[in-house]
Amino acid sequence: MDSSEFFDFLTTRCSVREYSKEPVKPDEVEYILDCASTAPSAGNLEAWDVVLVPDEGVREVLSHAAFDQPHVENAAVLFVVCANYVRSMSRYGERGILYAVQDATIACTYMMLAAHSIRLQACWVGAFDEEEVRQVLKLPQHVRPLAILCVGKGTPPGHYTERMSIAEHVHEDVW
Ligand SMILES: Cc1cc2nc3c(=O)[nH]c(=O)nc-3n(C[C@H](O)[C@H](O)[C@H](O)COP(=O)(O)O)c2cc1C
Repeated sequence: MDSSEFFDFLTTRCSVREYSKEPVKPDEVEYILDCASTAPSAGNLEAWDVVLVPDEGVREVLSHAAFDQPHVENAAVLFVVCANYVRSMSRYGERGILYAVQDATIACTYMMLAAHSIRLQACWVGAFDEEEVRQVLKLPQHVRPLAILCVGKGTPPGHYTERMSIAEHVHEDVW
């Protein structure tokens, strides 16, 4: 893939919040997870975990936990990506909290891009009641749910969300 193909790949991804009933196949789920496991991580500790949620009933409850966002219920499968503090803190102490958040965020980004690469649609959902998600998924205390990645077959809108200009982000030498 050359640089323009890569840029094209990135700019043709967008959040899709409506999905058909078509299931995501087990080999597609496996591919998305394989891609996530190539992500870099602090000390190569891979301080992330994921709870897969194909079950409609659990998706419905998670949708309520996500302030009734319908795409959480309607996606074919959810990837609930969690930071695993213990894995990272065992080597890095307090700093490991930050590393685990970064590791999990990168892994989730890879999952989202992996879904796009096989023509599935996705939406990253960060707005949810953490305690509710913890309870529903029986998460242990040492992991923190960071994102619910909704994945399914949908129709991309064909127009892409505007971005700030690069100049608004970039500071040279000093802020
Ligand atoms: C950290 C984070 C949290 C987000 N939370 C939500 C959310 O709760 N619900 C939702 O529908 N989209 C959510 N999004 C998706 C953004 O709205 C979307 O990425 C942004 O508007 C840019 O659009 P695009 O993904 O189509 O390029 C989130 C994205 C990120 C990265």
